[in-house]
Parts: sequence; C-alpha cells; structure tokens
Amino acid sequence: MVDLMALEKSFLSAHIFEGCTAVDFTMGNGHDTLFLCEHVGKNGKVYAFDIQQQALENTEKRLSEAGMSNYELILASHSRVDEFVKEKFDVGVFNLGYLPGGDKSRTTLRETTLEAVDKAISLLADHGIVLIAVYPGHAEGEIEGKLLLEKLASLDRRKICVSRFNIVNSPASPFFIAVEKK
Ligand SMILES: C[S@@+](CC[C@H](N)C(=O)[O-])C[C@H]1O[C@@H](n2cnc3c(N)ncnc32)[C@H](O)[C@@H]1O
Repeated sequence: MVDLMALEKSFLSAHIFEGCTAVDFTMGNGHDTLFLCEHVGKNGKVYAFDIQQQALENTEKRLSEAGMSNYELILASHSRVDEFVKEKFDVGVFNLGYLPGGDKSRTTLRETTLEAVDKAISLLADHGIVLIAVYPGHAEGEIEGKLLLEKLASLDRRKICVSRFNIVNSPASPFFIAVEKK
C-alpha cells in the first residue's frame, strides 16, 4: 500500500544533501526538524518556525538530546520567513494544520500559509524543493488546500514544477504537494 508520508520523505531524501540549508516552516514537536538536521549534517543549517513557545521547547529538547547543533528555532509566523532567512534554501517542509493532541485553535491559516509559500518559492534555490502536507479533514485545512492548489496551478511550468500526491479513493485524507524549482 502507498504510504504518503514515506513517499514524502523519499522526495526529501532525494533533494537534501550534506551542507545544504533547510527550512521547517511548521516545527511542532520537531520530528521533521530533527530529520532535516540529521540530513543537512554539521556543515548545513536548519531554520525552523512556529508560533507556539511550547513547540520551540519541545523541539529544542528533541534536537539537543539527539546532539544536534546545526539549527535555529524561531518563534514567529512562517509568513515572516524573509526577515530571518537571508540565504537561499534547498529543502523546505510545511506540515499544515495543528499539533495532534495540541490546541486546535493554533492551526495554520490560509492567509499566512499562502504568504509563507509565496516567500518560500522566492527564497528556494534552483533545483530545490518545498513539500507541503495538507490536512483537508478539517474545515480550515480543506480551504487552505484548495487555495494553495489554485495559486500553485498558476505558476510558470518552465520555472516551477508542482505535483500533488493523494489517495484517490480517500478524498478527506491528508495529501502532499511538491514544489520543485528548475
Ligand atoms: C501539524 S503541526 C507540525 C508538526 C511538526 N512537523 C512535527 O514534526 O511535530 C503544525 C504546527 O504549525 C504551527 N503553526 C501554526 N501557524 C503557524 C504559523 N503561522 N507559522 C509557523 N507555524 C505555525 C502550529 O503551532 C503547529 O505546531
């Protein structure tokens, strides 16, 4: 059976390399941040964003216990990425929605997500990739996904390739979008 999360990781693995720069746009409990830190290596750098102090604390604990030092955790909306990341990045990850078991009101929101994705595409290095996991099973997630797809569908195919991966016979299940810069 297709495992979408494993498929997403395989896209990440294909693009990430020792010494590169990565951005986790939705740090949460830091699972993706740790994956990125491990793969960029000690000469690389990972920037991670979240609006919740608890996310920074949980992620800091996870990363320091794993012996990582190649990261910067930022307590700010990902829509402000351009204020903090002053270099091109190679790999970016959005895991939209709210933290499972956390405060559902602290979910990602369409306006800031669209702004952040726009800025991410501007900051993305040539041959880089941004992966966006969307959760259409809740109301804001459904709208967020729809608006994102509309916006991304209008990008110039000669510069950016946008793909969508979903389980066809389970329309409310999470899906992911890959945005690759040529
Ligand atoms: C599904 S969780 C991410 C899970 C995370 N990738 C992990 O490995 O644990 C979504 C996260 O996005 C955060 N978030 C919501 N709005 C945000 C925003 N505007 N900027 C950055 N993070 C935001 C939430 O606080 C939540 O921690």
